[in-house]
Amino acid sequence: MTTERIALIGAGAAGSAMLLALHQAGYPIIGVASRRLESAKQCAERVECPLATTDAARVVVNADIIFIATPDDQITTVCQAIADQGVIRPGQLFIHLSGALTSDALSPAQNKGAETLSLHPIQALADPAKGAELLKKSYFCLEGLSSAVAKAMSLVNALSGKTLVVPADKKALYHAALCVAANYLVTLESVAVSLLEQIGIDRSAGMQALLPLIQGSVENLVNSGLPDALTGPISRGDTETIAHHIDSMREIPAAYQALYRMLGKETIELALKKGGLEPEEAEQIKLLLTPQPPDACLIS
Ligand SMILES: NC(=O)c1ccc[n+]([C@@H]2O[C@H](COP(=O)([O-])OP(=O)(O)OC[C@H]3O[C@@H](n4cnc5c(N)ncnc54)[C@H](OP(=O)(O)O)[C@@H]3O)[C@@H](O)[C@H]2O)c1
Repeated sequence: MTTERIALIGAGAAGSAMLLALHQAGYPIIGVASRRLESAKQCAERVECPLATTDAARVVVNADIIFIATPDDQITTVCQAIADQGVIRPGQLFIHLSGALTSDALSPAQNKGAETLSLHPIQALADPAKGAELLKKSYFCLEGLSSAVAKAMSLVNALSGKTLVVPADKKALYHAALCVAANYLVTLESVAVSLLEQIGIDRSAGMQALLPLIQGSVENLVNSGLPDALTGPISRGDTETIAHHIDSMREIPAAYQALYRMLGKETIELALKKGGLEPEEAEQIKLLLTPQPPDACLIS
């Protein structure tokens, strides 16, 4: 039976999901604080917690592990305010959930002798109940001193989650990678929809038409991983099709053309690793993807 007492400050989407998941895993939740009492109460009810308040210091006093799940720009301010009230003691563990910030954001707590950690759930959390389910079996990125990381690993294990541990000086690069994986995926689909728009397909219809294709690609990633999930003309060494693509793009915005070429070059590397593309074909496609004078004909 787990005895570490948990408190939450910031009863929003991520904090509420995390707290519910920990409650379901058997952790005692002893206090929830939020900017608005209503948010704190709603969250506290879900986890059978007797204390809901707008006073963050009140939930810290008796807690062993304190999550500060406010928006990123509030984490240090909230932590400093608690530290100034003299309620932080050595042995406590302060955790924030930001993917972008390091545990340094909790330095006011560290200065009072507490341990500090950044624990980033690699998950999109909106609804608390659904979020709590999603968190189980999710990956969590941990950054902080090794003793704090070890404590957090127990929390993650209790959720049947998995961990990635990153050093503080690489946290920004870690976050950039996630940004490419998730945010830029959405941006990329928006570019694809814009290309369809160029031929008269409206954005909504274009998006709907692409969704099964995107889902299929994600399933290929799940089932086959990298690089085997790659399909398409570059993967098959279909030089002629790539030449037609480039030619068809001459009237579209230069930024989209540049994006196509740049991602095409990365795709060549992936296709070579997968093994479906011959080195000579790779060279031909690389040449096609290299910017040409505006009036050059790209199909030989
Ligand atoms: N949502 C995600 O998918 C996700 C995933 C991974 C990590 N995270 C991280 O989780 C943290 C929270 O993000 P979120 O998406 O959960 O944001 P959110 O839904 O906006 O929740 C933040 C909560 O913090 C409370 N709050 C704001 N300022 C406060 C203050 N000064 N004192 C006390 N409470 C305050 C707000 O409370 P009131 O409701 O009372 O106004 C709000 O409910 C961020 O560090 C974020 O990077 C989020």
